[in-house]
Amino acid sequence: MTDAVIGVIGGSGLYEMEGMEDVRRVQVETPFGAPSDEYVTGTLNGVRMAFLPRHGRGHRLLPSEVNYRANIYGMKKLGVERIISVSAVGSLKEMIAPGHIVIPDQFIDRTKGIRKDTFFGEGIVAHVGFADPVCNDLSEALYAAALKAGAVVHKGGTYICMEGPAFSTRAESFMYREREAAVIGMTNLTEAKLAREAEICYGIIALSTDYDCWHTSHDDVSVEAVVQIIQQNVAMAKEIIRHAVAAIDGREQNCPCGSALQYAIISDRSVIP
Ligand code: ADE
Repeated sequence: MTDAVIGVIGGSGLYEMEGMEDVRRVQVETPFGAPSDEYVTGTLNGVRMAFLPRHGRGHRLLPSEVNYRANIYGMKKLGVERIISVSAVGSLKEMIAPGHIVIPDQFIDRTKGIRKDTFFGEGIVAHVGFADPVCNDLSEALYAAALKAGAVVHKGGTYICMEGPAFSTRAESFMYREREAAVIGMTNLTEAKLAREAEICYGIIALSTDYDCWHTSHDDVSVEAVVQIIQQNVAMAKEIIRHAVAAIDGREQNCPCGSALQYAIISDRSVIP
């Protein structure tokens, strides 16, 4: 199996990465079951990469049905040190218009506890630090790449991770705005937690597709509107990835992500009775 150093998880509308060379489709087995699809490994401008469509080819998996543990474990098994995750999000702020890019740096968890979002348990107890849930260095690189690609990009912001599959009620949307959150989506927090436990850097390119349902002069979110904005912007997302991959290539991991488990595992420590 060829090692990849950068992993890309593609969200709605991003099911493949053109421009990759030496492409192979790799089926990865994991102790947690099957990932969403085969990984596409290869090189992008000489950088070894692994690409995975989060919802599977043909968009078969709901956000709650994605096997996030298998997806992240598979990346680890392929040698991935950094994951760039792309997803469509609703905007909770006027200034984040549809078509804009956001690089979120915080989360609020509004999932319902039905997702498997840890590799630990069943006898192995660990508590990883998650105060800063995304990799700062990778997020900086994604921000710079987005600027270079000509995107309107917002640095930082809180991502509400909801369970779905239905979109939010208007009352919920207003509540998230009161909390001063920036965007809402259904997937990234779960990936971020598992990437941290796997000691993989994790950063997000979030494409704003709608104003959810709080905005009085814009239509409420609909799949049709989301798909339309994604189609108009998918080339931009790919361009950002290309710039980011070129910038990251060969860089040392100077962040704490790679040693997240150093003091996290407490099972079998002699100090614990
Ligand atoms: N993905 C895209 N738009 C969304 C929204 N408004 N809520 C949740 N997920 C989304």
